[in-house]
Amino acid sequence: MKRPAWRLLPGAIALGGSVVLVGALPARSVERPAGIERRIEALLAQMTLDEKVGQLQQLDGGGEGDYRPEHVELARAGRLGSTLNVRGATRGNELQRVAVEQSRLKIPLIFGFDVIHGYRTVFPIPLGEAASWDPAAVERAASIAAAEARAAGVHWTFAPMVDIARDPRWGRIAEGAGEDPYLGRVMARARVRGFQGDDYSRPDRVVACAKHWVAYGAAEGGRDYNTTDVSEHTLRSVYFPPFRAAVEAGAGSVMSAFNDLNGVPASANPFTLTRVLREEWRFDGMVVSDYTSVTELINHGLAADEADAARQALSAGVDMEMVSRSYATHVPRLVAEGKLRMAVVDEAVRRVLRIKLRAGLFEAPYADPVRERATLLKPEFRAAAREIAARSMVLLKNDRGVLPLSPSVGRLAVIGALADDRAEMMGNWTGDGRAEDAVTLLAGVRAAVSPSTEVTYAKGVTVDLKVLADPAAYEASDRAGIEEAVRVAGAAEVVVLVLGETGGMSGEASSRATLDLPGRQLELAQRVIGAGRPAAVVLLNGRPLTIPWLADHASAILEAWFPGTEAGNAIADVLFGKVDPGGKLPVTFPRTVGQVPIYYNHKNTGRPPDEKNKYTSKYLDAPWTPLYPFGHGLSYTQFRLSNLRLVPARLRAQGRAEVSVDVENGGPRPGDEVVQLYVRDVVASVTRAVQELQGFQRVTLAPGERTTLRFTLGPEQLGFLDREMKWVVEPGMFRVRVATSSEGGLEGALEVVPD
Ligand code: NOJ
Repeated sequence: MKRPAWRLLPGAIALGGSVVLVGALPARSVERPAGIERRIEALLAQMTLDEKVGQLQQLDGGGEGDYRPEHVELARAGRLGSTLNVRGATRGNELQRVAVEQSRLKIPLIFGFDVIHGYRTVFPIPLGEAASWDPAAVERAASIAAAEARAAGVHWTFAPMVDIARDPRWGRIAEGAGEDPYLGRVMARARVRGFQGDDYSRPDRVVACAKHWVAYGAAEGGRDYNTTDVSEHTLRSVYFPPFRAAVEAGAGSVMSAFNDLNGVPASANPFTLTRVLREEWRFDGMVVSDYTSVTELINHGLAADEADAARQALSAGVDMEMVSRSYATHVPRLVAEGKLRMAVVDEAVRRVLRIKLRAGLFEAPYADPVRERATLLKPEFRAAAREIAARSMVLLKNDRGVLPLSPSVGRLAVIGALADDRAEMMGNWTGDGRAEDAVTLLAGVRAAVSPSTEVTYAKGVTVDLKVLADPAAYEASDRAGIEEAVRVAGAAEVVVLVLGETGGMSGEASSRATLDLPGRQLELAQRVIGAGRPAAVVLLNGRPLTIPWLADHASAILEAWFPGTEAGNAIADVLFGKVDPGGKLPVTFPRTVGQVPIYYNHKNTGRPPDEKNKYTSKYLDAPWTPLYPFGHGLSYTQFRLSNLRLVPARLRAQGRAEVSVDVENGGPRPGDEVVQLYVRDVVASVTRAVQELQGFQRVTLAPGERTTLRFTLGPEQLGFLDREMKWVVEPGMFRVRVATSSEGGLEGALEVVPD
């Protein structure tokens, strides 16, 4: 084993542009204004045990944003700390008034809601936002979501979801930033900043919640809520970093996950909830459980009964219980019987009150219905949604320049059920987004073409949840639909074929065992493309799909994810070339589900795949390579990278090297490129991934324009966690690659020399 040349203090982790040492606390956590802490203690001193436990209870609304009569009673008695799903200024104010004016201590409620990718103006699903590789755009989307939500009386969003997902069967891959810890950190930071700004007491910000702590995305078999077993090294290197980034960006809350983690469920796990989150990271916000995840400790086989579940979850560090009521029911008795220390309860209450105080709820508990009306779906919010959605799209394939389409083509056919369905433009978790606000793909195309263009439409085949379970059920209608689609396509000069999933096929409890196009869409595609007209496929989906036939036969494939309220306009902007597609895949596309998990930053193994050698790591019946790699995405123009320089090429472990590269738009149109920096530590005391993203920049260049991009490599990028979980930079060779995807590009070498 090599001697580490340089190491950080225990528990340190490297993020962003600077080395973070243990004890160097995030700004939000360090800054504990004495005033707030005094107010917490003053309240705590007056609270009965029932009132304390009341602050730790969050209950679900009554549907459609409403509260329930029981909430009024509990709020009056000081036995409710928070609700989820209650929203709308008027209704929220009614319930808040009871807490603030009729309860003994007048502690306001904090209203939580899943504002995942927009409140009323819906933005692309988070996986799509991540595909923009544009943190500024993502921050802006979150800030608009926050402005709308807060205006509607929501103080707290259960977002961002920062779970790393290496398994596209897992439906919740749609809600995160994909498979990569670096991109995950960048997006986590951007979204926390967008939601919270510098100060989440402001009337246009909400408290963020990094979820689901932790490794929820590692569910075995990709089946939601399933068990996870992940080594501490992988937790710290892959699954923790986006959470750490969220905490350092000041996230006010964290949600404990549903999953069993290495034998101790995440909602009762003292290692993750207390040692890492509180002791190492000094997080002083609140931890909320996921929905009934506290009482689910009984099903996990960790807790004997609800009292036991309450004791274990609260002691481990879950401050607020979502929906189940084991704290409210059992904590007073547990304390009385000496089974739970009052100090544990007090600390949880402090954390809840701290966030309520920081959110300014004591000063401004009510929402303003006039402001709410004036804020929701503002034209400028729609404009931003259109722009961000267009920036999230990834051009997977474009043979012979089929795209962009001419807006003055004579006859254009749009085929596919999803193309004409407003609700399906928005994907899963649409907040208060409304189908009637959404622009369909068909409407967007119609609005973009010249008046002389004839746009024809055929639905093709059924795409709904039922086709997943029983594709044969639609046999007759789908057969007729395919014939009609072929006729419509055959009569057109060019075809836009819209394929994919419904929003409900991804998201929570929406895992899939296959990744194929649902229902008879492949058959539809084969027949329509077989009709011989140039066909551009637009994919709407919440996860990578296995589309090898399309990859071979479609002229062009545009991955649009679920773009949100402005879907149709944004897709048309890209299809007709108003906007150059500059997005890149935040996740690997497999060829077949059997390759899963497949991700770009894998280890090399002792027997890396070699076509000529049978006894190497591969499959008999499928290639080992992905269909589309992480980071892939084309443009309507051509970019060239040249002149990679690493200065200095030899450095000490504490040193820094500048990596620079020239990028030139050598094509005929303005366009966007995302230049990506990958690093490989060739030999280390712990095996390292074959490559790791360590930087990227999205640039827009005019035809013929050339620019130089610079990246810095220092201990944060060259280091890793050693066998004792210490951050070290070891001497030796590093391969550095600058590329436009996780394959190809320009490669150079760096050497770290001993001190
Ligand atoms: C369960 C989900 O896992 C979580 O992400 C969400 O925030 C809560 N339900 C509340 O809706």
